[in-house]
Amino acid sequence: MSKKIQAIRGMNDLLPAQSPLWQYFEDQVRDLMARYGYDEIRTPIVEQTALFKRSIGEVTDIVEKEMYTFEDRNGDSLTLRPEGTASCVRAALEHGLLHNQTQRLWYQGPMFRHERPQKGRYRQFHQIGVEAFGLEGPDIDAETILLSARLWQQLGLFEYVTLELNSLGSPEARAAYRDTLVSYFEAHHDVLDEDSRRRLTSNPLRILDSKNPDMAAMLADAPRLMDHLDAESKEHFERLCALLDAADIAYEINPRLVRGLDYYSRTVFEWTTTALGSQGTVCAGGRYDGLVEQLGGKPVPAVGFAMGIERLVLLLETLDLVPDEARGALDVYLLPMDEASTATALLLGERLRETLPELRAQLHCGGGSFKSRLKKADKSGARLALLLGEDELAEGSVTLKYLREEREQQRLRQEDLIAALTPLLEGESFA
Ligand code: HAM
Repeated sequence: MSKKIQAIRGMNDLLPAQSPLWQYFEDQVRDLMARYGYDEIRTPIVEQTALFKRSIGEVTDIVEKEMYTFEDRNGDSLTLRPEGTASCVRAALEHGLLHNQTQRLWYQGPMFRHERPQKGRYRQFHQIGVEAFGLEGPDIDAETILLSARLWQQLGLFEYVTLELNSLGSPEARAAYRDTLVSYFEAHHDVLDEDSRRRLTSNPLRILDSKNPDMAAMLADAPRLMDHLDAESKEHFERLCALLDAADIAYEINPRLVRGLDYYSRTVFEWTTTALGSQGTVCAGGRYDGLVEQLGGKPVPAVGFAMGIERLVLLLETLDLVPDEARGALDVYLLPMDEASTATALLLGERLRETLPELRAQLHCGGGSFKSRLKKADKSGARLALLLGEDELAEGSVTLKYLREEREQQRLRQEDLIAALTPLLEGESFA
């Protein structure tokens, strides 16, 4: 036998047992986006490398260490997208979607980062993201946050996540703050670890994100960007906080929240959970008023976020919040007991599906002994088997066998079947 070829580390197959939960999650999101008036955009998985370098920033972890970059056959440098915002801006600009108009867009799909795989962190992962263009006030920031909060509510997750909020101010205020911060770090040079020393010149704000316990005390006393905001950003932030207060959405202001992508200005936020270990950020985003211009357009304010589907699915499983409808179980297994009953079972299945579009019914195929047929019925996970044999054929009936309940089986006329199955679809037990 030849050696088996395996999937690439950090890139996962989504197996049939897991897909009902993903579909449930995606359905909830799709429905929610429509309810808030967001339109879907789909962009290619591969873009020119320059797009990500210019938007995410040359000296970020993503661009420096994590991108899947390759030369194509023409010698062009291409990259598998590590996130969706840059592509979304590129597409919106390319197709004139930002010209004198606002846009509320959402997207979903795989993203690629060459990080060290661990629970909740993968090299191919899936995001759902939202980007709103052309609106500069804090009302849209608040709306995107409320949209995500509603999703947590719908999924039963709301009490398990915390909203962390910060403002990064204007680029000018941030540049001034950067100087203050660098002076502070230089005065504490001996406490800085190697990574932080490297960042001191390239990206000193990211030092604030360090989890190194030896630096914790020094970081706690570091000057806070919140105290160095420009007046307009400060007001923007206060108005956002007031809107969240009015909507009764609790938040923690985290002055050290800086995010790992360079394009942000003003609002940044993260939804985090303690239930997943170290990869606890399930959704993150913020405002990026300078990015459209940086990518060649006229200035257009923008705000958005993205959530990691794997982390959210994992959270639903960990907290035992997977509803029955997300388990994908069959309702009915149609079981012809011999060759002669096959056509009747097949047609009965079609009739049922026509009248009961919600019904999930599977037909037994492939013959086998009576015992093995029943075994398959049980293994199918269906609640009910519909048995059709010689007797049933002769009298136009069907036998209902309960596969998950201790109940006598029951024989019905085929025309009474629909009425008998209806309560099953409404989540009730049978009459
Ligand atoms: P991000 O913080 O890099 O932001 O990613 C957003 C979310 O994607 C994270 O909070 C996490 O849930 C998930 N995620 C990121 N990396 C991985 C990974 N390696 N494995 C599993 N899940 C992961 C962005 O990507 C921005 N584009 C968000 C945004 C949109 N900002 C404005 N608009």
